[in-house]
Amino acid sequence: MGGYKVFSFDKIQSTQDYAYDMIANGTARDHCVVTALAQSAGRGRYRRKWVSHHGNLYASFIFDSPERDPRLSYAVAVAIAETLITFGIHPTIKWPNDILISGKKISGVLIEYAGRFVIVGIGINVHTNPTVAEYETTRTDKYTRADVAEIFSALTKNLDKWMNAKFDSVRDVWMKLAIGINAPVKYRGEIVELIGINDSGALVVRRGSEYLWIHGDEIMV
Ligand code: BTN
Repeated sequence: MGGYKVFSFDKIQSTQDYAYDMIANGTARDHCVVTALAQSAGRGRYRRKWVSHHGNLYASFIFDSPERDPRLSYAVAVAIAETLITFGIHPTIKWPNDILISGKKISGVLIEYAGRFVIVGIGINVHTNPTVAEYETTRTDKYTRADVAEIFSALTKNLDKWMNAKFDSVRDVWMKLAIGINAPVKYRGEIVELIGINDSGALVVRRGSEYLWIHGDEIMV
């Protein structure tokens, strides 16, 4: 796997937790990636559980990251979207990095910083999709015969491509695929209009004649 050191498991508690342990015990390096076909305690954003039945792609990529970069989240979303497009699937992106097919979630991203590293946790539903109370889900095998290994291989290449791309081109693709642009969103209890993202990765919304830059997970699309 070009440039990556892969630690693969059939079933593990959470690839994200394993990546954390590698950082804590000093064995982590840039471009280490932990993969599993199932997780017993997969984690999602907002402390949600990530239901992780056997047969999907669960991976946590470790990258050097001396600083936090809000633009990373968009590069990762675009990398996953392009991976799916390679296999003939047409995704949309729900801010910041949920990947949807026909409005149903197929992939999620959990970005966590630890020490001098960032862990990019990616789940893609390939052969199973869980029933989740909050949203509808789907999986890739409804649209393509590509297996977990093929999708993983394409994903590794696309992550390198988009994490090293100029942010202008990341933003162009993200804006083309994003849902909810120029539509109302909820921000701190108020309805505002979602405009897009700026050069530094902040979300731009319009409140009346005023434009606001938002950092972090503060809007509900
Ligand atoms: C989300 O809430 O949308 C993010 C889900 C992220 C799930 C992935 S699967 C691989 C990695 N290991 C985990 O426990 N979580 C992330």
